[in-house]
Amino acid sequence: MRFAGKVAIVTGGASGIGRALVQRLHAEGGSVMIADLDEAQGSGLAAELGERAAFCRIDVTDGDALAALAQETADRFGGIDLLFNNAGMGCYGLTPDLSLDDWRRVIAVNLDAVFLGCRAVIPHMVARGGGAIVNTASASGLAADYGFTAYNAAKAGVINYTRCLAIDHARDNIRANAICPGPVDTPLFTPGVEAMPGLRDEWERCVPAQRFARPEEIAAVAAFLASDDASGVTGAAIPVDGGLTAHTGQPDLRARMAAHSE
Ligand SMILES: NC(=O)c1ccc[n+]([C@@H]2O[C@H](COP(=O)([O-])OP(=O)(O)OC[C@H]3O[C@@H](n4cnc5c(N)ncnc54)[C@H](O)[C@@H]3O)[C@@H](O)[C@H]2O)c1
Repeated sequence: MRFAGKVAIVTGGASGIGRALVQRLHAEGGSVMIADLDEAQGSGLAAELGERAAFCRIDVTDGDALAALAQETADRFGGIDLLFNNAGMGCYGLTPDLSLDDWRRVIAVNLDAVFLGCRAVIPHMVARGGGAIVNTASASGLAADYGFTAYNAAKAGVINYTRCLAIDHARDNIRANAICPGPVDTPLFTPGVEAMPGLRDEWERCVPAQRFARPEEIAAVAAFLASDDASGVTGAAIPVDGGLTAHTGQPDLRARMAAHSE
């Protein structure tokens, strides 16, 4: 019950990683505001959880709406202790092919929204005497993927912005950390991968663990970072990627030698 008496906002809480996180925080005693564009899934989850859960339909690129959400959460649950900036979207496009509108939308949803969420919530945390922020970055913010220019740039921005938050607000007793998932089985990711024959197998072979993560595995690390168990951790960007970013990308000689000896 690490979150008994704590109040959390989870953006993108209706689906995938955010949904698993909402369930985890609630199961450990927290009160959770689910903030998402998807009204059906978000309000359904809040109704399923019952007491200590609420849903607010919001576009995280709207700073005024985020400020209103923070106030509504504080009014309803008595304050805000934890913020999970988790909503995000992917986008494939090489530089010559990407419109400025597409670039700006990806930066707005993945990076601007993290700033806007923090700007709305930090004053509430200061009033409470402290808090914890966990931003969902990505393994794709630590290194580059072929063709995911805007997404990679946004997620790298999230990681360094998280470090800025950590140092600026350490004296306010606010910790800020980022999680960097590798591939995770969620509605954002899996259907697109599985639409291309053979791609899932190829992608899983890129991960040293040889599999995609489950949303609950990412939520567990985010919950740890938000909890008092991580009271000494701030400004970190933690890969939760089955070893993906530990790998230089060079060939797997062990697999090659095993194939030769057959
Ligand atoms: N799935 C992966 O492989 C993976 C890997 C690394 C990082 N991530 C990151 O994890 C986070 C969660 O992704 P997921 O895989 O759980 O995806 P998901 O699609 O299952 O969930 C994302 C949620 O965010 C909401 N959302 C999207 N845009 C929004 C907006 N403008 N305003 C409010 N809500 C919005 C969606 O409605 C959805 O409920 C994202 O930031 C994503 O970039 C995912």
